[in-house]
Amino acid sequence: MRTQVAIIGGGPSGLLLSQLLHVRGIDSVVLERKTRDYVLSRIRAGVMERGLYELMKEAGCGARMEREGMPHDGTLLSYGDEMFRVNFKDLTGHPVMVYGQTEVTRDLYDAREAADGKVEFNAEDVEICDADTDSPYVTYRVGSESRRIDCDFIAGCDGFHGVSRKTIPADVLKEYERVYPFGWLGVLSETPPVNHELIYANSPRGFALCSMRNANLSRYYIQCPTTDKVENWSDEDFWAELKRRIPADQAENLVTGPSIEKSIAPLRSYVAEPMRWGRLFLCGDAAHIVPPTGAKGLNTAASDVHYLYNGLRQFYEEGDAEGIDRYSERALSRVWKVERFSWWFSGLMHRYPDQTDFDLKMQIAELEFLRSNTDAQRAMATNYVGLPY
Ligand code: FAD
Ligand code: DHB
Repeated sequence: MRTQVAIIGGGPSGLLLSQLLHVRGIDSVVLERKTRDYVLSRIRAGVMERGLYELMKEAGCGARMEREGMPHDGTLLSYGDEMFRVNFKDLTGHPVMVYGQTEVTRDLYDAREAADGKVEFNAEDVEICDADTDSPYVTYRVGSESRRIDCDFIAGCDGFHGVSRKTIPADVLKEYERVYPFGWLGVLSETPPVNHELIYANSPRGFALCSMRNANLSRYYIQCPTTDKVENWSDEDFWAELKRRIPADQAENLVTGPSIEKSIAPLRSYVAEPMRWGRLFLCGDAAHIVPPTGAKGLNTAASDVHYLYNGLRQFYEEGDAEGIDRYSERALSRVWKVERFSWWFSGLMHRYPDQTDFDLKMQIAELEFLRSNTDAQRAMATNYVGLPY
């Protein structure tokens, strides 16, 4: 098979890139290791920045999001029983959109299918070959059949555990990492959200987050030890712990019910540089991870897609390689700012095992400063709604 862009990974980055290229008449093939149903069963991000929202529209996939997504003009931050609101709309002019990653992915899969786009599921043993030459290709296996795709470029959109990043020689790739000493236990339940906006809570018992997917689907998270196991948490225990971590008046309003999904995610900050090696370009979680506190993972994957898509478009439409040559530099410049925000917000809201009384006082002082200072709130809101591309 021959295509212009071979895309490894059928998560949100790979699908969005493929669909945007299609709109511009650029051909691609997506190779996904799992099935469509498997990809859609992973409950992940819930908050979209305007940049992703606009890209979905540009990809011709914005209709359901515009109908069903919930614009949020602000968020609540609590510490102990204290709570305050940061008004994104007033401070930056922009809201964020609550619309689940599973819905984004579903809309993109539907669009790819409607356009007869090539997505190969169950693609195993994917190997990237000759990426540092002008004629790269990808080999893989479906069942017992081995296949090969020749292409102009390869987009590595295969997440943190994919093959793309590992293809880049160790003496070229520089990795930066911080692993946090806790994880997030997340629960999805068919209950009305405790509040119409998200609540990020710093409590003496650890962080908690109240989020949602729609009027009858809530998503809650609590900070837990990295060694914890989902099996250790009954629904009852989860609800009791969540109630202890959010302000008392919110806890009183919390509607509980059976969980329909429960999982633990580790927290990590990670960046691999550069994001390009020859004709291979890394995109999204394949190149970087943020702790989820700032809701930035999916959104940063989208900003990479923006830079890569525009670079490829410039190459095919204008014969100009400037965009692809500067892809890594442009993407990383934004990635590092997002890493900083996610690291800062995680540090502000979590309890650390080795935290001293002094450290705790610093957290509270920073929260009180944020509560009382419009400039500090504007800096937070500017990052939360999304830095410009
Ligand atoms: P992925 O979603 O990981 O997709 C990669 C795809 O590649 C997968 O489908 C995988 O099966 C496939 N693949 C892997 N290896 C291979 C291979 N060898 N061959 C072929 N295919 C392969 N982000 C936000 O912006 N906001 C949030 O609110 C938010 N909340 C989160 C909450 C949780 C609990 C978690 C875990 C993450 C959250 N994120 C959030 C992060 C967000 O989900 C990720 O950043 C996003 O999924 C990245 O998309 P991606 O397409 O780059 O990678
Ligand atoms: C969600 C996840 C996040 O990490 C976050 O900061 C906000 C919302 C969510 O899953 O809804």
